[in-house]
Amino acid sequence: MALINWKDEFSVGVRAFDDQHKKLVAMINEFHDAMSKGSADAVLADLFAKLGSYTRTHFAEEERAFKKTGYPLTDEHVDEHRRLIVKVEELSAKQKSGKSFLTVETSQFLKSWLMNHIMGTDKKYTAHMNGHGVL
Ligand code: FEO
Repeated sequence: MALINWKDEFSVGVRAFDDQHKKLVAMINEFHDAMSKGSADAVLADLFAKLGSYTRTHFAEEERAFKKTGYPLTDEHVDEHRRLIVKVEELSAKQKSGKSFLTVETSQFLKSWLMNHIMGTDKKYTAHMNGHGVL
């Protein structure tokens, strides 16, 4: 069963970012699914690394749009991106150090990241972006 089912209410009103968020949801679900099935650590590490890499790409694209449009809440948003990346790196380091993924911690982190960051912080840019023709 999917950890997260995409809903229209997750939309941030910018098509490119919604598409990227949907891809992130799919990657989180794939990772959660593999963890639930008891997949090997090497498989989980690979999926987690891809998720981390795509997260960085997505954050960079949002940050480019902030710069281009002069988004006033850039600093606090970018700070949150940095904190999320640090957390992803911590989880990745735990896995690399030979400890198995902590199922509950990782799943909860990924889910709360989506709910809190996308639903809270990302949604704050909708009116600004749309007002600058970013739809
Ligand atoms: Fe969609 Fe700010 O991450």
